Amino acid sequence: MTPLPSLDQLIVAFDKGLRTVFAPAQSLRETPGRDLAEAGMTEDQCRLSASLMRVNHTGEICAQALYQGQALTARNPRARSALEQAAREETEHLAWTERRIEELGGRKSLLNPVFYAGSFAIGAAAGLIGDRWNLGFLAETERQVVTHLEGHLQRLPVEDGRSRAIVEHMKDDEARHATSAVSHGAAELPEPAKAAMRLSSKVMTETAYWL
Ligand SMILES: [Fe+2]
Ligand SMILES: [Fe+2]
Repeated sequence: MTPLPSLDQLIVAFDKGLRTVFAPAQSLRETPGRDLAEAGMTEDQCRLSASLMRVNHTGEICAQALYQGQALTARNPRARSALEQAAREETEHLAWTERRIEELGGRKSLLNPVFYAGSFAIGAAAGLIGDRWNLGFLAETERQVVTHLEGHLQRLPVEDGRSRAIVEHMKDDEARHATSAVSHGAAELPEPAKAAMRLSSKVMTETAYWL
């Protein structure tokens, strides 16, 4: 049985949450597509891109929260370090999408604090169930994100090379996170769990598109 997180760990987690939602994210790797010239897009195209990138930014907020929640309750130190490594890359995704939203003149979702809190709770619960399931949940999340990002590559204007470069890069990273979770011993989730996850991410993506 895992000992419950200490008060110190909870305070650190709360602080990370506040910084994730409210402070600008930092990236070590250069933002993909930065050297691409900003192509002339119509106002409608800019608005569409900004909305899609807002959804992706919120997805990254949720990823941060899931990873932090899972890392807080994960038992095995190897699983924990895999989670923390992936979480660092998710911070970069957060920074890239945030920057792109600014370039497009858009704004971040108003509901990010709510999404963060909900995802953190889900992550912490997954971590408590045990590492194989925790990693299984992670692998399935990442696979669903890859499918979601493929959908966005269909919808993003072809003219928007910068957003597309970011989404392409994120897609590769997420696929790698899924593979890494599997190599750390992820269990395959039952189909109803996968369906519930698809449904909750649908609620998130459709809400963040507008709000
Ligand atoms: Fe990500
Ligand atoms: Fe990921």
